Formats: sequence, structure tokens, C-alpha cells
Amino acid sequence: MDKYKVVIAGRIMPPALAAIQEQCEVLQWDRPVPPTLSQLTRWLQDAEGLFVLPNIAVNEELLAAAPKLRVIAQPAVGYDNIDIQACTNRKIPFGNTPGVLVETTADLAFGLLLTAARRIHEGWDWVRAGKWQPGASLPLGVDLYGKTLGIVGLGAIGTAVARRAQASGMKVIYHNRRPRPNHEVLGVEYRLFEDLLTEADFIVVLTPLTPESRGLFGAKEFARMKPTVYFINAARGAVVDTQALYNALADGQIAYAALDVTDPEPLPADHPLIKLPNILIAPHIGSATTETRNKMALLAAENLLLGLAGKPLVTCVNTEVNYRQQKA
Ligand code: GLV
Repeated sequence: MDKYKVVIAGRIMPPALAAIQEQCEVLQWDRPVPPTLSQLTRWLQDAEGLFVLPNIAVNEELLAAAPKLRVIAQPAVGYDNIDIQACTNRKIPFGNTPGVLVETTADLAFGLLLTAARRIHEGWDWVRAGKWQPGASLPLGVDLYGKTLGIVGLGAIGTAVARRAQASGMKVIYHNRRPRPNHEVLGVEYRLFEDLLTEADFIVVLTPLTPESRGLFGAKEFARMKPTVYFINAARGAVVDTQALYNALADGQIAYAALDVTDPEPLPADHPLIKLPNILIAPHIGSATTETRNKMALLAAENLLLGLAGKPLVTCVNTEVNYRQQKA
């Protein structure tokens, strides 16, 4: 049997690569810098499947250069880099990897909150710099216990963050476009967006990046928050207006920020955000454990191979095209 022709647009976890290579002839981009559009389109001329990564835009132009493409898979839950409508128009199912990264990403989001509140990272810097001397002490942190956490975007990861916060004695409020029908069983309360901003002591952002959520947190929103608020973004950098966040932190309008995502990404080493004293930035490592990255890559590989075989993907975003494939 002829092997399927597949492009893998970056480095992926070895077990997933091995699973794909068993059934496919693979062209893999293996340099650290992502391929340009023209490099990728040259490779895609004959490709039936594309295993893509979140730092690459899949748009009309790219799809137009890939006439044989039948499936696209990406090892990430977010898919703001993918023009879903363009994929659907071409009847190409797109698979993401929800579910498998929930607890790992919740650990990181809550870990950022806890680390910032208790200044763990500042403490380590201080010890390493030889400042732990008799009589010297670090600026004090703040308690989680008895405080209110506001989650913006209460999906599976937000629910897992809520559980962690409740275990630390926090009250949890949330905002989604619509209240969740079962929210009482989670022990959380719904708030309008503006009310959450004024009430929360800690805000965790987990909303996907969409045209509606782009720039959701700007000067007006930071101005509504308590001056003591800790602001945590574990969603996408562009949900926040970076300049407005910088101003709010620099002017003491809010107390602290902890970010797993930034706009731009990667954040240049000389970016003004990095020079602020009241910020903690992680390099987009929400799902970055060996176990979870393997699960994500294997699920994406499974989606890719199913799509190539004309079968429905396990986790498909544009389900209308997934079903059509099934009937074919
Ligand atoms: C990571 O940011 C993801 O979307 O999986």
C-alpha cells in the first residue's frame, strides 16, 4: 500500500512521529525557527495531511497551495492560528487536542497564581544573589485563603483551576458569555464581566482568543480592578492589550501580573514588561510536561491518521466536515 504524504511543520514528540512514519511518507521541518509561508507551501503541493504547530498560520493562502490536503491536526487545544472557515470551505477537518492537557494546564495557571502571591520566584532570586543574611527579609506576599478568584473563561481548564483554588480556601466567581447550567455543583458563582473585575482579588484568564476576546483586557478593564489585584493570563497573549497591562503595573493601578502567554511571543529580551518588578512571566509552558506533550502529540497523530483514512477525527473542531467524511 502506498504511504500517505504528510507534512509535519516542526519538531514533535518522538512516539507521535514514529506512529505517523509507520503509515506516511513524511516531510518534517526540523529547524527551531518556523518555516515561512513560501517554504511551507512548496512542501504542501502533494501533501494529503498536515501536522501543524500553533506558531504557524493556516490561512486561505496556505490552503490554496495544498490542493490534495484532506486533514489538518495540531497538538494544542487553542486554534486561533487556524482559519477554520477556510478549512471547512475546503471540506478539510481540523483536529485539536482538548481534554488531555486540562489538569497540567490548570497546575501551571494555579502555580503562577501561587508563585506570584507568595513571591516564590523572587525568594529564589534573592537567595541565589546571596541576600539571605541575618535581619534581611523579602517584601511580604499575600494570602490566598479567604480571597476571591475570578475566572474569565470557565471551561474544563477553568473548572480544574477552580478546584485548586477551593482547596486553598478561595471563593470562586467566573464570567463566561453565558452562565454554565451546572455551575452550582462546581461551587462557583456567575458574575457579569464588569462585576467580576471589581470584585476579584485574583483574576485568571482562560478564554480562547477569538475576534471578540482580542484586547478584552485594556485600560478601562484594568482601571476597574482593585489596586491589590493579581492578574494571571494563561490563555493567549492577545486577549490582553500589552501596553495597557504595562501601564497598569507601572502606575500601581494593579498589584501584580503572572503570565504564561504574551503578545508578542516570544517576548523579546529587552521588552519593557520584563523590566517591571511586579511581574512573573513563563514562556508559554501551560501543557509542557513530558506526559502531557506526549498525549497531545499522540492524539494529534491519531486525528491525522484517521483523517487520511477518511474516518472521523476523535477531536474535530469543524464537526460538520468530520461527519461528511464519515458518510463518504
Ligand atoms: C496551548 O496553548 C494550547 O492551546 O494547547
